[in-house]
Amino acid sequence: MRTDHVLEPSATAQPAQFCLPDGIVYLDTAAHGPRLRSVQHAASAALDAASKPWQPSEADWEAAIERVRALAADCFDGDASAIALVPSAAYGMAVAANNVPLARGDGVLVLAGTFPSQWLAWQRRCAQVGARIVAVQAMPGESATDAVVRTLATDPSVRVLLLAHVDWRDGSVLDLDAIAARAHAAGAALVLDLSQSLGAYPAHVARWRPAFAVTVGYKWLLGPAGLAYVWAAAPWREHGEPIEHHWLARDPEQVWLGDVRRVPAFRAGARRFDAGGVADPMRLAMAEAALAQIGAWRIEAIAPALHSRTAALADGLRALGLSSWLAPAATAHILGVRPPRERLQAVAGALARAGIVATVRQGYVRLAPHLHVGAGAMASVAAVMAAAARDA
Ligand SMILES: Cc1ncc(COP(=O)(O)O)c(C=O)c1O
Repeated sequence: MRTDHVLEPSATAQPAQFCLPDGIVYLDTAAHGPRLRSVQHAASAALDAASKPWQPSEADWEAAIERVRALAADCFDGDASAIALVPSAAYGMAVAANNVPLARGDGVLVLAGTFPSQWLAWQRRCAQVGARIVAVQAMPGESATDAVVRTLATDPSVRVLLLAHVDWRDGSVLDLDAIAARAHAAGAALVLDLSQSLGAYPAHVARWRPAFAVTVGYKWLLGPAGLAYVWAAAPWREHGEPIEHHWLARDPEQVWLGDVRRVPAFRAGARRFDAGGVADPMRLAMAEAALAQIGAWRIEAIAPALHSRTAALADGLRALGLSSWLAPAATAHILGVRPPRERLQAVAGALARAGIVATVRQGYVRLAPHLHVGAGAMASVAAVMAAAARDA
């Protein structure tokens, strides 16, 4: 199956920029972003450089950390002091759970079926303080946004909302503007998981005003595994408690004095949450190349370009009589297709045999293209799915 050449969101976006082999239609960015050639080159160069263990110099290494922090910040509000480097979204959530105030009887709102990294640390925090998880399930015909707003209006115990901007199964998008307005009016804190959106979309932190937002770096940010990001609101940059107390998060002048009775100051801003071990030169080099490419494409242009692909796929499925497999809610860069339960494995198997890489998640076939694949290829993907439906 061929993939069409794409020229948006800028004239520089082309399939040749990605490392994917011929004969594969990779539609699984929601699992792992496709590897950019620039990222692969950066990784190889960093691996070669690592054969000389005296490289990079400490100054070069610190400069690389700050370049990645600044590039990651460009996906938020451009303020590098708001960003911490951590190993996973779960780690970022644990930072949030350890800091955001929670008391006996308080509720922590979570959408049912959401990714475990969002709520595991909060389950524990709830158990510690006598708070509880408020699981929200949308009613038939109700959007997830409306379900969150309804719960907020009817349950005054909710003090924290843990929300993913984009659902990891079907790509449905929460209206965070509407939710944030109500959450702040109720005095509740927002904690966001942007793992399935940041990189395709920017994060409008000035509008949403979360306490913390976390994201992995290896999906829509196209970077390496093991390097994730935390955005922290201003008060937490001043007063937040890190999970671990890594020396990298402390003022180097003070931490190396060796005076064990003196508490060395934190580095400025969210750097206090920086985790140990994640700033390895290879991951930094890969992240820098990936984030620079996203910036060059312009992050605002990426979701619309990806939507043209998922819309083409949805149109193809409708044209082949499979409208009932599609969720009524609008999706953007991820399309969750729901075949009848008894056909799910047949559809997944047909896609795999055709070299189409997608994932099955909680009853959905999740199709998540990036710019390496053109909208034109989507008609063939729809045809493979329709054939699997016919062969029932
Ligand atoms: C919504 C969401 N959050 C987080 C993650 C990954 O979290 P972690 O970095 O803790 O493994 C995923 C991975 O699929 C995800 O879909």
